[in-house]
Amino acid sequence: MQRGHTPVLLHEALERLSVEPGGLYVDGTLGLAGHAAELLRRSAPDGRLLGLDRDGETLARAAETLRPFGTRVHLAQADFREAEQHLAGARPNGVLLDLGVNSVQLDSPERGFSFRFEGPLDMRLDRSRGVSAADVVQHLREDELADVIYRFGEEPASRRIARAIVAARQSQALTTTLALAEVVRRAAPRARRPGLDPATRTFQALRIHVNGELERLGDAMKHLAALLAEDGRLVVIAFHSLEDREVKHAFRALAAEGPFELLERRAVRPGDEELARNPRARSARLRALRRLRADEERDPRARSYSRRLAARRPDGRDEDEHDDASDARQEAA
Ligand SMILES: C[S@@+](CC[C@H](N)C(=O)[O-])C[C@H]1O[C@@H](n2cnc3c(N)ncnc32)[C@H](O)[C@@H]1O
Repeated sequence: MQRGHTPVLLHEALERLSVEPGGLYVDGTLGLAGHAAELLRRSAPDGRLLGLDRDGETLARAAETLRPFGTRVHLAQADFREAEQHLAGARPNGVLLDLGVNSVQLDSPERGFSFRFEGPLDMRLDRSRGVSAADVVQHLREDELADVIYRFGEEPASRRIARAIVAARQSQALTTTLALAEVVRRAAPRARRPGLDPATRTFQALRIHVNGELERLGDAMKHLAALLAEDGRLVVIAFHSLEDREVKHAFRALAAEGPFELLERRAVRPGDEELARNPRARSARLRALRRLRADEERDPRARSYSRRLAARRPDGRDEDEHDDASDARQEAA
């Protein structure tokens, strides 16, 4: 998540990626290239970056931002699940994923992510393909809608909301953000958490469903980890508990099966200073995994990284899992 292009957990992510000159890195969720630009600065003069984003409009902005880095940067409009196709057999020293949506997407009424503005109910990360949120709201059966809202929004009033949507769409198609938000608020006027808009969880759920955000996420972690060079890192920032849980389970399985280790057992959270600067970073959780070197595989006593890191941990606080299901990015919506 970022406001004014402030990347979340920037220092924590780049430290764990162990960025060095000459390295090859993948930013699988390039966004507005905040993490990527810093990564390129730290890996100067010859570190290289493959940047991927599903959103062609975002990618074009990022290309502008990264232009000063010239041929060190290669960009492609792609899902991070397709990273291997763009690596042409090369093994990255680090892969970063900062999941979710970026601030320009959230703040663009025409993208339909936000109930703060009137706009078409779209929500697709890649507007060149797929089915919009308006189509989903118009065509899913009531029980299917309730399932989506419950599973991806952890919304206790999912059935009531689905019933209200189906009733409303019989008189008029729900094609805009404000029309949907209004129906949700009438069906379930009080959010579980004070201060949270009652439409928050339903919007989050639709966005996750429309973009298949949780589909094969655990498998994607395993696939990306398998691509890493020796001592390579996979660093993932998640913004809601559903994503973070998938990442956590995949990382633990990888560390148990080898040849990987968790850099910390618990997720890293933004420190007080970052929260003061950027309160919307509140829900961010970072997890990092390292591929062992061949000598460490042979001799487990050589695996000293996590112990060293724990001894000099910066001000980032640790937490095992989200205590709050809501997605800060969606809260901002
Ligand atoms: C939170 S933003 C990343 C912000 C970025 N780290 C920065 O510093 O500017 C997430 C980005 O990932 C993209 N995205 C989401 N899911 C994706 C996926 N499966 N594959 C590729 N890009 C994805 C979104 O379009 C969005 O631009």
